[in-house]
Amino acid sequence: AELDLAGIRTFIIEVAKEAGRMILQASQSQLKTTAKTNSTDVVTETDKEVEAFISQRLHEKYPSFDFLGEESHMAGQKIRDDVPTFVVDPIDGTSNLVHHLPDVCVSIGLVSGGRSVVGVVYNPFDDELWAGYHGGGSFTQKRSEPAQSLPLYAPPFEGNGGILTGACIGVDWGSDREGPEFELNLKVFTSLARTQRTGGKFVNSLRCVGSAALAICRTAAGQQDMFWECGCWAWDVAAAWCILSEAGGVIVDGGLPGNWDPPIDNRRYLAVRPAVTGQKEAVEEFWSTLGESRSE
Ligand code: IPD
Repeated sequence: AELDLAGIRTFIIEVAKEAGRMILQASQSQLKTTAKTNSTDVVTETDKEVEAFISQRLHEKYPSFDFLGEESHMAGQKIRDDVPTFVVDPIDGTSNLVHHLPDVCVSIGLVSGGRSVVGVVYNPFDDELWAGYHGGGSFTQKRSEPAQSLPLYAPPFEGNGGILTGACIGVDWGSDREGPEFELNLKVFTSLARTQRTGGKFVNSLRCVGSAALAICRTAAGQQDMFWECGCWAWDVAAAWCILSEAGGVIVDGGLPGNWDPPIDNRRYLAVRPAVTGQKEAVEEFWSTLGESRSE
């Protein structure tokens, strides 16, 4: 049967807001961190409790759907193409949360047939919601202000002498501190910081939000022109991917030039905002900066 995407989105919004209240109520002891792979990759009791809550709520309502969550996934667990799958990060921006930085969100996506078809991202500290579903557009709503459809603020972005010139680009480090992913990070960051077109023109700024989901939503709103990360996971991007693409933005491969259609669990992503003059050229120009930093 066809999925009622609008209905699923409405239900996910309710669950994400309930999960957001749990995050706001977390006590100091529930925010004590445990390192996962290393000290850059941390988890708290609250992450686990919020994920268990979300999983239970979703399962009660949609018992036939699969669930892939950051805290409960099995090693190597794949999203099955033929079963609708909720892909969930209960707290994206855990490091921000434990440092009392408010860039924190609940991220709940629904993936079906290999695509993100519903996305809800909710920041409980700002009471800011981002949501969308395939074919239905996307919107953002802050506190009790009226919902605004995306893209929001951004006037069309026109680079001047190269599309990256003057661009605000979101990046993040992920949790690797050695190995090929880390080396790629170093090379891309260096190359973006150096990007110099004719006449000494540069990328305007590099920004790090600390939540991939929020970074992609901000790209959907044109608050950043692009977001690049190598090393994040399906649950970091699944929800925001739908929100961005419904707003007219794209996510392409962040490591392999020419791959316009990477899978949800690609782990290397380049998100480009809507309303950029020449989205395709922007992607190609970014890919050209990978140069020899490219690793396949
Ligand atoms: C992390 C954040 C961070 C990104 C990492 C993610 P988490 O998610 O999205 O911005 O750089 O790759 O793992 O651990 O806070 O859910």
